[in-house]
Amino acid sequence: MMDFLTITDVGPRDGLQSQHTQVPTEGKLRLIQALFDAGLPSVEATSFVSPKAVPQMADADLLLPRVKVPPKARLSVLVPNLRGLERAVQTGATEVAVVLSATDTMNRKNIAMDLSVATSTCVAVLEQASKLGLASRAYIAVAFECPFEGRTSSARVVDLARRMCDAGAREIVLADTIGAAAPTQVQTLLSALLGHIDVAQLGMHFHDTRGMALANAWAAMELGVRRFDASIGGLGGCPFAPGAAGNLATEDLVLMAEQCGFSTGVDPQALVRAVALAGELVGYPVGGRSARWLSAAQVREQAT
Ligand code: COA
Ligand code: ZN
Repeated sequence: MMDFLTITDVGPRDGLQSQHTQVPTEGKLRLIQALFDAGLPSVEATSFVSPKAVPQMADADLLLPRVKVPPKARLSVLVPNLRGLERAVQTGATEVAVVLSATDTMNRKNIAMDLSVATSTCVAVLEQASKLGLASRAYIAVAFECPFEGRTSSARVVDLARRMCDAGAREIVLADTIGAAAPTQVQTLLSALLGHIDVAQLGMHFHDTRGMALANAWAAMELGVRRFDASIGGLGGCPFAPGAAGNLATEDLVLMAEQCGFSTGVDPQALVRAVALAGELVGYPVGGRSARWLSAAQVREQAT
């Protein structure tokens, strides 16, 4: 059997939260639909955060009830606290994601909490989510390097990941928030973590600031990781983490995985349409390294 890679497209949330333009709700709905149409099994749609902190996500309550989720597909939303969880539940969420940064300063900048309050808040949200029967993901942000505190220790990440698991997180997602990791660092962190967390429960979230996101994904795949976040067209960046560039582009990850014999359920050619739509919505051309080649391949295919 072919190995299946589960890709969560975080473009509608991570990709749009830092744009200068406010993408209208209708546009976001079209983008989410285009991602599901391309076969993505999981999409992170929005976040129920303070609209003052992230105005781009202020329409979450209007957006979520209007998303049509195909059977078997998953739709997650980010929540920073119990208030966010309540809003998400009221509008029909079935899966939530919490973000715990591995350093004190990053938590303060992102969610105005120190590490200890952020940890107990995430625990409370995860416990409540599992009581309500919701699926959950717990991001460990700045898992490799923090823009304020430098290198993150593997021991810290292991400790926080275990706490999130104990609180009921179904999936732990290690996030290279500012795109600072290299493949050897991915191997080191995963080697430290895999004795404690089941690899089937683990996902990776890479940003491509230094052009190493795809290589980092491959390093994780070699160690058995089969869940990845990616963002359509490589959109992305955290507004509170200086230096964070776009995410690993979904089309690049899909193309590499499929060409290496993995199955993703995603049609790379259908992604081309989603890449074009993402660019149209943000108002400038977007696309991972493979996007141009994929578009050209589509033209060649249509010509034959
Ligand atoms: N949804 C909507 N509004 C919320 C909220 C939520 N989940 N949580 C708090 N608020 C509101 C409060 O009602 C209050 O509103 P008011 O000023 O009109 O009275 C305001 O936000 C401040 O509340 P407070 O509890 O003091 O929060 P804070 O200012 O300490 O901010 C967060 C904490 C977590 C709400 C805020 O930092 C945040 O939303 N961060 C998200 C960051 C993010 O999305 N980063 C990118 C993804 S990792
Ligand atoms: Zn991110």
